Formats: sequence, C-alpha cells, structure tokens
Amino acid sequence: MRILVTGGAGYIGSHTVVELQNAGYDVVVIDNLSNSSEKSLERVAEITGKKVPFYRCDILDREKLSDILDKEKVDACIHFAGLKAVGESVQKPWEYYENNIAGTLTLVDVMRKHGVKNIIFSSSSTVYGDPETVPITESCPKGVCTNPYGWTKSMLEQILMDIQKADPEWNVILLRYFNPIGAHKSGRIGENPNGIPNNLMPYITQVAVGKRDHLTVFGNDYNTPDGTGVRDYIHVVDLAKGHVKALKKIEDKAGLKIYNLGTGTGYSVLDIVHNFEEATGVKIPYEIGPRRAGDIAINYASPDLAREELGWVAENGIKEMCADSWNWQKNNPNGYDD
Ligand code: NAD
Ligand code: UD1
Repeated sequence: MRILVTGGAGYIGSHTVVELQNAGYDVVVIDNLSNSSEKSLERVAEITGKKVPFYRCDILDREKLSDILDKEKVDACIHFAGLKAVGESVQKPWEYYENNIAGTLTLVDVMRKHGVKNIIFSSSSTVYGDPETVPITESCPKGVCTNPYGWTKSMLEQILMDIQKADPEWNVILLRYFNPIGAHKSGRIGENPNGIPNNLMPYITQVAVGKRDHLTVFGNDYNTPDGTGVRDYIHVVDLAKGHVKALKKIEDKAGLKIYNLGTGTGYSVLDIVHNFEEATGVKIPYEIGPRRAGDIAINYASPDLAREELGWVAENGIKEMCADSWNWQKNNPNGYDD
C-alpha cells in the first residue's frame, strides 16, 4: 500500500513515516515546510534506511496536489498537515480556518477525483471541550472549543463524517490525540517548536538545556490532587504506531471510526516536572503563575476502544517519555539547525 502523508516533515508526521516504513508501507510525503524542516525526512531515511519521497507542496495548491496524485498512485492518506498553535489561532483565526479547513477540503476533493477514498485524520482531545467526566470515551459528547484551532478540528471531523455518510465508499478514521511528547529513541527526530514553546514538555526541555531559566506552572488552584492541571501524555512513537494500526483498519473497510489515542493515565504538571527530574537527573526550577486562559483542570482518555478494535496500546511510560524528550533536546539544542 502506498500512503500519502501530508505534514509528514512535522513532529508526529516524521515519527509516523518511520513506523510506516518499518511496517513495509510505501510513503509519499507532502509538506509546505511552514512549521518544519526537510532535514527531518533526511533523518527519517537515516533511521529506516529507506528514501522518503518528498514534495514541497501546500494542501491548498489544487493543481500541484493533482499532479502528485496523478503520478504517485496512492491508496490512502494520513493527513497531519495543519497549523496547530492555539494562541496564534486566536490572533489569526482566518489563517487557521483557511489553512486547516480550506486546505483539507481541497485535499479531499483532489483525493476523491483520483478515486482515493481512505483518510486518517489528526484530530485532538480538544474537541471534547471541558469534559463532564474522565476518563473520556469516544461516546462522550463533543464540547465547546475555546479557540479557533480547536474549532478547525471539531468542524473538520464533522465535514469528514458527512462526506463518509454521503459516500460510504469512503473510509474515514478520526484519531483524537491526547498530549504527544517524547521523541524517537535514536534522538535524531523530535519536536522542534518555533520561538517560545507553548506546550509543557518542550518548555521543560528548553529549561533543562539552559535556553530558558525557569518553568511557569499555569495555576495550582485546580480541583486536582496537587492543584495543577492533569493531562494524558502519550509517547509520540506509540502515537505513530496507532496510525499503522488504523491503516490496517482502513484496509478492512473501516467506514467511519473514531478513536482516542492516549494512555488512560493522567499526570499533573508537577508530576511531569518530578518524573523529568528523576528520569534525567536534571533539576527544573519552576514558579507558580496564574492560570492560562482556556485551560481545563483534567483531561485523560479511555483508550479501551483503540485497544479492542485496533489492538493498539501505548507501551511507553512517563519515564521513557521524559528520557526520550531530553535525549532529543540535549543532542539537538537548536532542533534541526544542529
Ligand atoms: P507540526 O507542525 O510539527 O506538523 C504539521 C506539519 O504540517 C508541518 O510540517 C507543517 O509544515 C505542515 N503544514 C501546515 N500547513 C500546511 C499546508 N497548508 N500544506 C502543507 N503542509 C502544511 O505539528 P504536529 O505536532 O506534528 O501535528 C500534526 C497534526 O496533529 C496537526 O494536524 C495537529 O493539529 C494535530 N495534533 C497535534 C497535537 C500535538 O500536541 N502535537 C495534538 C493533537 C492534534
Ligand atoms: C494544548 C492545547 C490543545 C492542543 C495541545 C497540543 C490549550 C488550551 N490547549 O493542550 O488544544 O491540542 O496543546 O498542542 O492550549 N503548562 C504549564 N506551563 C507551561 C506550559 C503548560 O503549566 O509553560 C501546563 C498547562 O496549563 C496544562 C499542561 O501544562 O495543564 C499541558 O499544557 P500543554 O502542553 O500546553 O497542553 P494542553 O494545554 O493540554
């Protein structure tokens, strides 16, 4: 099977290309490199020993996409391409709606015109909003998103569901990721945020490597065991493997399926700080600051459905996630510029 991977030069995409190639799939990557470097794909090739066919292409570029699909004869698409910075999406909603929604509509249209009706879409636990109960199962209702980024995920889920309903030849799998962290064990690929990281783990690793002097913990007055926010952190390699399992489901004619990809365990911000310190021996100075707008107290998955239907379980624990995040950061303090 030949798989089109959009956004394949990015953080989750590059790790997924490794797992796809290791599992024997042929891949073709497209990416406009707006938030990534082609070097990630050179390093993927180093890891797998296989070349990664790559086109620099924007998913909004209908003509170029069409030429690529004429040439490459793919069977399915794993669709990672999208903008993902929550705060930026509040400042630039039009850009987020255009890139993520118009981009996906263009991609899906070109796919169907080429008879390619299999797609795995990167969704997010953010579509649940502030959940009434945890662990969150896929049957929990979707909630109110607090930012345009979240709405693009929620709306795109609905769009893809409607398309599949109208044309059951489509196989659509929506994967709702919880909080991906960690990096490939080789330390050659990992997360490479631009500027000041918004997310917890890249912030911690930048403190550890000396780029920032301390972590600010966003609030310690939540209704959680230690007062700090609780999330379901998942190793990016486990997440990547979830896509390989989902492809198998597509090959079995999935129809429409939705799966949470998380571990089922929640860790607080301070749990992460302490686990990071234990796993790496590096101290993380922190200060307690105010809550961040839009944050919720607790969010963790029930991963049962993915286990039952995909045979997928996250294998890495929190210590491995911390150690692998650190291994990437310390060997590549400036990301792919090193
Ligand atoms: P990333 O930014 O590292 O990867 C996204 C890739 O898409 C980048 O390489 C970027 O250059 C590319 N891209 C963006 N717009 C494009 C366009 N118009 N045309 C072509 N390429 C384009 O992000 P990631 O963390 O790897 O996330 C991958 C997907 O998973 C995204 O859709 C993201 O919203 C989703 N997701 C991520 C997280 C997370 O915490 N990282 C959580 C839930 C969902
Ligand atoms: C955020 C996004 C979510 C997105 C996800 C992955 C928000 C409101 N949500 O999730 O939509 O899918 O990233 O990109 O932005 N924290 C600190 N200090 C920091 C950074 C984070 O204390 O410097 C805390 C947060 O308050 C939170 C936890 O760490 O409790 C995790 O934060 P983060 O990594 O940003 O992920 P989410 O907020 O869960």
